Amino acid sequence: MKRLLTALVCLACTACTACSGPQSVLDPAGDQAARLFSLWSLMLWVCGAAYLLVMVFLGWAIWRSRRQLAGAPEPNPHDPGLRRGLAAWALLIFIGLAVLIGASFLVDRSFARDAAGSPTVRVTGQQWWWRIQYRLPSGVWIETANELHLPVNRPTRVEILSSDVIHSFWIPNLSGKIDMIPGRANAITLTPRRLGWVRGQCAEFCGLQHAQMALDVKVESDADYAAWLARQAAPASPPKGDEATLGYRLVTSGVCSNCHTIRGAPAVARAGPDLTHVASRRTLAAGTLPMGRGAIMGWIAQPQALKPGAQMPPTSLSGSDANAVAAYLEGLT
Ligand code: CUA
Repeated sequence: MKRLLTALVCLACTACTACSGPQSVLDPAGDQAARLFSLWSLMLWVCGAAYLLVMVFLGWAIWRSRRQLAGAPEPNPHDPGLRRGLAAWALLIFIGLAVLIGASFLVDRSFARDAAGSPTVRVTGQQWWWRIQYRLPSGVWIETANELHLPVNRPTRVEILSSDVIHSFWIPNLSGKIDMIPGRANAITLTPRRLGWVRGQCAEFCGLQHAQMALDVKVESDADYAAWLARQAAPASPPKGDEATLGYRLVTSGVCSNCHTIRGAPAVARAGPDLTHVASRRTLAAGTLPMGRGAIMGWIAQPQALKPGAQMPPTSLSGSDANAVAAYLEGLT
């Protein structure tokens, strides 16, 4: 009995933690997620009530059959009361299903109405990270990666693409899932209503590191968003100090520039994430490591140990050279 109680308490606590937090469909932080949550709640109540009724009738049927075994008379299948009861039950099921279908249709139509306007953000799924492009007020597109910033109380139209396999773009606190399909452009509108961080996750199995394909999402005020966008649009900071200058030379001599772009430096390849402001992000390698000098060093030295299968090859830098590269990248805020 004690064990059963402990198990029930643990289960209740787990359920409570899933009800809120930065990656929960039950803690909506935007219009689209709020609508889905209302639909989900309606389905829960209707289906929960239907389930309880079925259990009540099942218990009643068992009770009756036990009475018959004890010698009670058989019920008459032509009893008009029984027929009326069955008809009422069928009607109730019909009404319940009609309500659910109607509500689903209305929520779906409301998403279609959100769809006005052209995309200002483009997110492309890659194995296993997110390429993110923003259209500046001037019309120019700039690129960053793995961290999506959105203005609060404002609909943002996001174009959804994939460059390799099918991924799925999913920020549970903001909206539902949408597939990222190679060769096809999907779109989703996000209207966040709460400031702060939430977490997205690729929701379609896309290979070895599907689980480590996370997306940090920051919702901020209009002023903060505009300031952040302006910082991201600026070219990379020049290296400061001897160590960072050595790192800059190594990075731009091919060690990193064969695969990455650093705007303002001679690095224009696009195989890997844009590194122009890499150190301004909270995490490295799509949520795999918290950003910092140690994480950058570890990632440069042993990417396959930290994220097996990732496209990033290990480098053959000496310890001091790797430290210099990390010093330069750490300055790219
Ligand atoms: Cu990308 Cu799963």
